[in-house]
Amino acid sequence: MPERAHKIFRILTLNQISPLGLKLFDPNHYVVGNDITEPDAILVRSHNMLQMDIPSSVKAIGRAGAGTNNVPVKDMNLRGVPVFNAPGANANAVKELVLAGLLMASRNLVPAIRFTEGLQGDDATLHKLAEDSKKQFAGIELPGRTLGIIGLGSVGRLVADAAIRLGMKVMGYDPNITVDAAWNLSSEVKRAESVEDLLRNSEFVTLHVPLVDSTRRLINSELAQNMRNGTILLNFSRDGIVDEKAVIEGIETGKIKYYVCDFPSKLLQHHAAVITLPHLGASTLEAEENCAVMVVNQIIDYLENGNIINA
Ligand code: MLT
Repeated sequence: MPERAHKIFRILTLNQISPLGLKLFDPNHYVVGNDITEPDAILVRSHNMLQMDIPSSVKAIGRAGAGTNNVPVKDMNLRGVPVFNAPGANANAVKELVLAGLLMASRNLVPAIRFTEGLQGDDATLHKLAEDSKKQFAGIELPGRTLGIIGLGSVGRLVADAAIRLGMKVMGYDPNITVDAAWNLSSEVKRAESVEDLLRNSEFVTLHVPLVDSTRRLINSELAQNMRNGTILLNFSRDGIVDEKAVIEGIETGKIKYYVCDFPSKLLQHHAAVITLPHLGASTLEAEENCAVMVVNQIIDYLENGNIINA
């Protein structure tokens, strides 16, 4: 149960949290740090808490991001401990990185950069080698091509909007938006009947669903059969949503041209058709600030007033 006011609340931070959020804690009522014992609340970004022995003093957990798969949410809820997150607070940052991924793949930028960096000689030689070889990196343009978006939460919707502005056709699928009336994103987003339907009709596919039991290995070998040849698959959600073996198979059979994902992978790391990033989606100044502010406000409101928002 939340306790009202005049005690000192102890807040343990497991990752660096933006100072803009931390300064919301009134120093007269809060001590905050990464070495706090018997904390009243824990703030976390990507630290994996699944195996952590979480002290019984903890009354609330704040995840400064959208996904909560690094927090034992069910166990905490059974203990009566709410887990707050920051949905939407970093959505623009993720959207921008998805667009970067889309463009990196459509214009073959990663192999092109590797190629240019490997060139040797004087400037005239470099220019000649570049001109002679650039055909192999010729790309495709986006207008008129279809982007399939699986998951139309805060990130998926922003990606849909941006893709439409770039002249793309957008097809969407979201298992949680079932009522027709709720499907009012934009008349320009065509509703797919199923993931299969979306895969069959999209040249680019991007995933924006959380990692939960129902989305684990959502893209597997069987489902991937429905992809068009040369699909560019983007995963800026979580690695468990795509079966990596299906990616390898898809690349070998020509179904997948590129797999762009926002996390490293032992299996996929050095594959020429795979572009991996070190979970950079929310790594912008603005997103870190927005997430910290949102989650700190929720922790304060819960500890001081017992209010629960976004848990
Ligand atoms: C999220 O869950 O908000 C994003 O994946 C970014 C992050 O984990 O910080």
